[in-house]
Amino acid sequence: MIGQGRSGHPEPAEPAKDLASPPRVAGRPDPSVAALPQDDRIRAEGFVRAARLADVPDGGVLGVALGTGARRVCLTRLGASVTALDDRCPHAEFALSAGELLADGSVECAWHGARFDRATGAVLQGPACEPVVTHEVLLLDGDVHVRLAP
Ligand code: FES
Repeated sequence: MIGQGRSGHPEPAEPAKDLASPPRVAGRPDPSVAALPQDDRIRAEGFVRAARLADVPDGGVLGVALGTGARRVCLTRLGASVTALDDRCPHAEFALSAGELLADGSVECAWHGARFDRATGAVLQGPACEPVVTHEVLLLDGDVHVRLAP
C-alpha cells in the first residue's frame, strides 16, 4: 500500500508481484470482492491493465496511457521486475518514457538528464528536485496491471 511520506509525496510502490492467488485488499479480505472472477477482482481493487509483459522491453521503458488516456505511466522492466512511474519528469514535465533505463536501474530523463530510482521515484541526479510519483504494479497471466497512486 502506498502511504504519504514526510515530504507529502507518495512513498515508493512495492515491487511488482506475480500472484498465483488473487491480490489482497489491505487489511482484511472483502468477501464481495473475493467472490468475483479474477479479472473483476483486479478491477475492483483499482488495478487497470496497462500492457502485456512481453511488450515492455527487458532493460527498457514503455510509456502507456491508462483508462481514458488522461494518465500516462512509464513502465520499466528488468527481467520479471516491473515498476510504474508517472510518465512526466517533475523537472519540466518531459515524458520519462522518452528516456532510458540505465544499467544501475535508474530512469534517465532524455531532456536534461535527471535520473530517478525506478522503484521509489527518488531523485538520483538533478536538475530535478522532486521525486516521480510511483504506482503499484501487479503481474498476472502475462499482463501488467497498474494501480494509480492518488
Ligand atoms: S524535463 Fe526531465 S530533466 Fe528536465
